[in-house]
Amino acid sequence: MKLLNADFVTSAARAEGIPRDAVSRVALAGRSNVGKSSLINALCRSKIARTSAAPGKTRLLNFYRITMEGGPGGPGQWAVYLVDLPGYGYARGGDDAAEELAGIAQEYYADSGARNFNSASATLLLVDSRHPGLDSDRAAAGWLNRLGVSYRVVATKIDKLARSERAKNLKTLETTFGTAALPVSATSGEGMDELWRTIARLARTAE
Ligand code: GTP
Ligand code: MG
Repeated sequence: MKLLNADFVTSAARAEGIPRDAVSRVALAGRSNVGKSSLINALCRSKIARTSAAPGKTRLLNFYRITMEGGPGGPGQWAVYLVDLPGYGYARGGDDAAEELAGIAQEYYADSGARNFNSASATLLLVDSRHPGLDSDRAAAGWLNRLGVSYRVVATKIDKLARSERAKNLKTLETTFGTAALPVSATSGEGMDELWRTIARLARTAE
């Protein structure tokens, strides 16, 4: 799989601002500061997304258009929007966090649903590998489930964990979400190839 091009396309505050072409979308959801924007930069090997040590940096729906060559689905060029969703729950937790995500992202998912566009609601749910099973993340997962959004759990900042903690926390995540989490690090690059394969499967099945 080869990265051919990665560009920031637009920031949208509402559904009207969402790009209207037929390119598949894969959204990144997760708590503020979990590493959504950093992961986009790591995937694209460039600093196209703004990151910050202080939570709450990304406040709009940000669309990045990536062109790839090959990967799962066979040879050939394909494109995908990675959608950086605003983070939830840095000041609050539990149901409040889910409501916050709902408030900010509901236009995005409503738009996806209205277009009946298969992969439009494909989502990566990012959770911090150091804090598995937080109420706010469980609430967000419940909210995505109720919307019928299929998501893959991605465990971020895995570089910060010692080997023993890593195994333990990944196990807790699997028990919490009922599915194995993919460990990644924007810092070390761990998991990027596997994550691209996941994105290719999500984006290319919808083409
Ligand atoms: P919001 O835009 O506020 O929702 O945050 P975000 O989820 O986009 O997080 P962002 O990418 O801005 O990263 C938050 C902080 O975590 C920054 O200080 C990053 O440098 C750090 N960070 C992100 N990913 C990693 C990682 O894989 N490893 C380590 N060690 N730090 C990371
Ligand atoms: Mg961000």
